Amino acid sequence: MIAPHGGKLVNRIVEGEEKKDWEARAREMKKITVSYWDLSELENIATGLFSPLEGFMTKEDYDFVLDDMRLSSGVIWTIPIVLSVSKEEAGEIKIGDWVAIHGEDGKLYAVMQVEDKFERRKKEEAKKVYKTEEDAHPGVAFLYSQGDVCLGGKIWLVRRIEHRDFLEYRFDPKDTRRIFQEKGWKTVVAFQTRNPIHRAHEYLQKVALEIVDGLFINPLVGKTKKGDIPAEVRMKTYEVIIENYYPKERVFLGVFPVNMRYAGPREAVFHAICRKNYGCTHFIVGRDHAGVGNYYGTYEAQEIFDQFKPEEIGIVPLKFEHAFYCKKCGGMATKKTCPHGDEDHVFLSGTKVREMLSNGIMPPPEFIRPEVARILMEYYRKIE
Ligand code: ADX
Repeated sequence: MIAPHGGKLVNRIVEGEEKKDWEARAREMKKITVSYWDLSELENIATGLFSPLEGFMTKEDYDFVLDDMRLSSGVIWTIPIVLSVSKEEAGEIKIGDWVAIHGEDGKLYAVMQVEDKFERRKKEEAKKVYKTEEDAHPGVAFLYSQGDVCLGGKIWLVRRIEHRDFLEYRFDPKDTRRIFQEKGWKTVVAFQTRNPIHRAHEYLQKVALEIVDGLFINPLVGKTKKGDIPAEVRMKTYEVIIENYYPKERVFLGVFPVNMRYAGPREAVFHAICRKNYGCTHFIVGRDHAGVGNYYGTYEAQEIFDQFKPEEIGIVPLKFEHAFYCKKCGGMATKKTCPHGDEDHVFLSGTKVREMLSNGIMPPPEFIRPEVARILMEYYRKIE
């Protein structure tokens, strides 16, 4: 089985007596209240999805991530994972203090020893991570809305988020690692998505599945931007497409409980690392992975992997060109495999597809499976 990033799967969840002990001690600690976004980051650190992180980043790690795409230990890491709070909230807190982290529901979720307190350099972070300072970028807009002061330090999680959705599809890295092993899969390709599965997605997955043992369809269900199709609708499309078009014994569906940043290349590396922690050996990176608008080049999210030694990343990126259905070839293809021109390729923009679905018009089956289209039509009919 592939090693977790940094060598060991982190587990910062405390249980039993230890949990009771922390809960009692937390009553004496300074209390901070954090958003759902931060709670999910907290939980992802605790379950080891963000291994080797054991807590929120200190300034040293934050600086290294911004400048070198590495932690101070040298391990590759491309996205800041920080706890930022307002100046007022940070005012009282000193380095060395213990803080009790509460959710907006008033419940205690974790404790943290504050190892560092530093300014979140938002403009610089925007430029380095997102390659733009424009708040028209949804990831940058969200960053600007966050607190100005970061608290860094190891965390101990005492409570899991009480999820109400996708319960049968929620797996921690320790679970997926066990499941892949039980299935006898030595090689597993992960597929990240925040969209329904189109024929192009299906093609990438199936081409990959020709060379590995199993496919982990791992749709992101954390925070996404306005206009993206909600996770509960997407989940129905994944179920229906697997049911009708995939060999069930070679596919595993589980949600990726991480917030979307739209940071393109840097997020692609981050996505790959998380999937390695799940126990996957390969990761699909297609066109404009985790991109938004025109902020990144079409294949920038693939090129970024070339900056690192393959053994430092560990998981193998499977890079795919733009895929389409070619009428002359009579099948799915990319420019690498099809000699025909654009006029023979079925291409529909996102806006066009949405317009068709909203008007109850079935897009061509070469673009999207009818079973998936029907679910989306139903969704658009309700919202429009
Ligand atoms: S993402 O934000 O999660 O990357 P999306 O769900 O659209 O967005 O894409 C999932 C994966 O499929 C990404 O790796 C993306 O690069 C790839 N992809 C999407 N559409 C195509 C396409 N037509 N051709 C090749 N790769 C694609």
